[in-house]
Amino acid sequence: PKRGEDKLRSPICCIMGHVDTGKTKLLDCIRGTNVQEGEAGGITQQIGATYFPAVNIRERTRELKADAKLRVPGLLVIDTPGHESFTNLRSRGSGLCDIAILVVDIMHGLERQTIESLNLLKMRNTEFIVALNKVDRLSGWKTCKNKPIFKAMKQQSKDVQMEFNWRLTQIITQLKEQGLNTELYYKNKEMGETYNIVPTSAISGEGIPDLLLLLVKWTEKTLVEKLMFTNEVQCTVLEVKAIEGQGTTIDVVLVNGVLHEGDQIVVCGTQGPIVTTIRALLTPHPMKELRIKGSYLHHKELKAAQGVKINAQGLDHAVAGTGLYVVGPDDDVEDIKEATMQDMKSVMSRIDKSGTGVCVQASTLGSLEALLEFLKSPVVNIPVSGINIGPVHKSDVRRACAMLERNREYATILAFDVKVTPVARELAKESGVKIFTADIIYHLFDQFQKYMDNFKE
Ligand code: GTP
Ligand code: MG
Ligand code: NA
Repeated sequence: PKRGEDKLRSPICCIMGHVDTGKTKLLDCIRGTNVQEGEAGGITQQIGATYFPAVNIRERTRELKADAKLRVPGLLVIDTPGHESFTNLRSRGSGLCDIAILVVDIMHGLERQTIESLNLLKMRNTEFIVALNKVDRLSGWKTCKNKPIFKAMKQQSKDVQMEFNWRLTQIITQLKEQGLNTELYYKNKEMGETYNIVPTSAISGEGIPDLLLLLVKWTEKTLVEKLMFTNEVQCTVLEVKAIEGQGTTIDVVLVNGVLHEGDQIVVCGTQGPIVTTIRALLTPHPMKELRIKGSYLHHKELKAAQGVKINAQGLDHAVAGTGLYVVGPDDDVEDIKEATMQDMKSVMSRIDKSGTGVCVQASTLGSLEALLEFLKSPVVNIPVSGINIGPVHKSDVRRACAMLERNREYATILAFDVKVTPVARELAKESGVKIFTADIIYHLFDQFQKYMDNFKE
């Protein structure tokens, strides 16, 4: 096939780094949105996806007088959580991407999840750019809204420049200790060997044009090998959501291939594989986050890479964090059904064979994995007898009731980011099953830890 532009898919760029370094805020700054302030506890707890069309990127890099022409239609940017509980989501995000932005807070330097993210990127040989964020926090920083960083830096006093250089040097040293050569991007003469650092502010936008231009340049350099279209659909379910008037929908990241309205698909479900047909293919407007409720654009077909909302029948028990498969004319549905259930298997194996333990329920496979990881950790070490994804129903409480006679303290349900139906709550109250709920994952850990400590006394 001809290696033409229509044969290239949009690259996927993943934003990673320690909690609160400004990953979501950086995206807000580029999008002109305010997603971060709407997040529970101000932390990201899911993977998000935003499509940046090439024209918007060109617009934002105009100041640099560089011709940021993209040979691809745009960039799909994936936001990931920095909180320690979500190693699995960072791993999933980094597994999806072609390039990454590693965000470091200039005031804090390298932190635990910065290093964890770095190791994930190294492991997969993923190219990345370091965004040295929050430069506006340098004392005395003079705001130069949305300016290229070189220009903004020239406006700063000697003191600010000195503090900047001092912090930069420290961080370059810390990165060196991790086995990485890095350099301020406009001084970097060995692009490729030496990773680029771009100072940014997600609040006032300094350095954003530079960051975008570098992403474009990288794309130009590596696109032919990495971004060829394949006909094979590669797709991951990020979220399962009930939408008023549409029933249950799934949000997916289409990494490669094409999806069509009417395609027969198979996804993993808590009650077994789900075989269904795509009724509608929807995307948020460009520059809008897939996670956030809004109006959607309808498509007959969609080419990778994209964040997509799929409307189809029977998705109620679909499991977020698993693969989506399209049934082709030559495919055996039974084989595909088996493949879809693989992701669920590793989680199922965590359930205690003795049948004694607490019940755990979460909104996605990713957050369920995070909860199981917490319960398994040496300090906590609590067995799990049952898991589920989605709202807590009466049947879930009934299952937990079984513990009342065996091991009273385990007659509990840890419910993260899911609703508890009124009847379920009623039954729990009558029977003495304890339900812990929280929409911030570490609050749930704290509640449960306190409860267990009381039991020990
Ligand atoms: P998680 O997703 O929870 O890991 O955090 P995050 O990396 O997405 O950081 P987030 O965007 O939630 O920002 C954390 C806090 O830092 C918020 O209060 C932001 O307003 C603030 N912040 C982010 N970027 C900047 C920046 O460039 N300058 C300043 N002054 N504050 C920033
Ligand atoms: Mg975030
Ligand atoms: Na945050």
